[in-house]
Amino acid sequence: MDFGVDANHGHVPVMRDRMGDLLRPAVERFGAEAVIVDGTLGAGGHTEYFLTEFPDATVIGIDRDGAALENATKRLARFGDRFVPVRGRFDCLGEELASNENVVFERVRKTGLAGAFFDLGVSSMQLDQEERGFAYRVDAPLDMRMDPSIGLTAADVLNTYSHGDLARVLKTYGDERFAGKIASAVIDEREKEPFDRSGRLVELLYDVIPAATRRTGGHPAKRTFQALRVEVNRELEALENVIPMVANALGEGGRAVFMSYQSLEDKLVKRAFADMTKSKTPPGLPTELPDMAPKFRLVTRGAEQASEAEIELNRRAASVRVRAVEKLDSGPPGGAR
Ligand SMILES: C[S@@+](CC[C@H](N)C(=O)[O-])C[C@H]1O[C@@H](n2cnc3c(N)ncnc32)[C@H](O)[C@@H]1O
Repeated sequence: MDFGVDANHGHVPVMRDRMGDLLRPAVERFGAEAVIVDGTLGAGGHTEYFLTEFPDATVIGIDRDGAALENATKRLARFGDRFVPVRGRFDCLGEELASNENVVFERVRKTGLAGAFFDLGVSSMQLDQEERGFAYRVDAPLDMRMDPSIGLTAADVLNTYSHGDLARVLKTYGDERFAGKIASAVIDEREKEPFDRSGRLVELLYDVIPAATRRTGGHPAKRTFQALRVEVNRELEALENVIPMVANALGEGGRAVFMSYQSLEDKLVKRAFADMTKSKTPPGLPTELPDMAPKFRLVTRGAEQASEAEIELNRRAASVRVRAVEKLDSGPPGGAR
């Protein structure tokens, strides 16, 4: 695979320059001590931009996909020890920060992180690798694991989950109106023969989802494939776990930026940020109680979106929602409200 010019599959990383602008004040404040965690390294497009734009900063790049990590590490080799690769689910961050002996981690233990950055979901590279089963437009093994070395595959989910669990996954993670009907059809089919390829699932979805809905609701497999992917990769669990880890690891003035592509992820980030930026002092008191003042402030107003011009060039940018927070200086305890 060529990871030169086409490393991001012909695309500039989503909202690349804006992501740099969101992190810049934090990186400048930390100076030569600045360390950014990129929790979703992928092809390394955003990280390459950060390392180029911020010549004093170091980036720790995490990805659970070993092949992606290896390719991005080659792409970023010219930055030497300013780039540190870590393989794992991004909620390994807490443990890595506590015990990784690399000098960069030691620095973070002293100064805190300047930035934490997450470009959630699958990469175009993963979608393009047909054999991994993420795409519904080609017949491929029903795998969908971002880390193909561990965990249940999409076929395992279809072949072993109860009707109730299948319907819940499809409804919750795919917002699929026909979740119950699809679950029943899957159970009937798997009794004849277990699922192993995507083509058979897509055929079943064409049968179950009424033609009228197909005309307005997009490809009939879209929601089911999204739901299976979120379940297989425990995407929401990882996200829920990592937000408090990031909150804890950021240094004063450090910033966290999340790019979400589906509404459940964005809701989770929105709720967590609302909580982090809220005073815990009971209403009506004239001063903040010690330790009750908000420790973060919102940097973005609502969720930021990509421009029409970018969406025109890169369809993936159409669904992105960006939210960012900054850790406030702790200052003296208490103070006027
Ligand atoms: C959208 S791509 C990132 C693209 C990247 N920003 C770039 O410019 O090349 C998301 C990447 O994050 C990885 N990923 C998604 N969720 C993850 C998680 N919970 N832990 C670790 N890696 C994850 C995927 O394997 C994929 O390679």
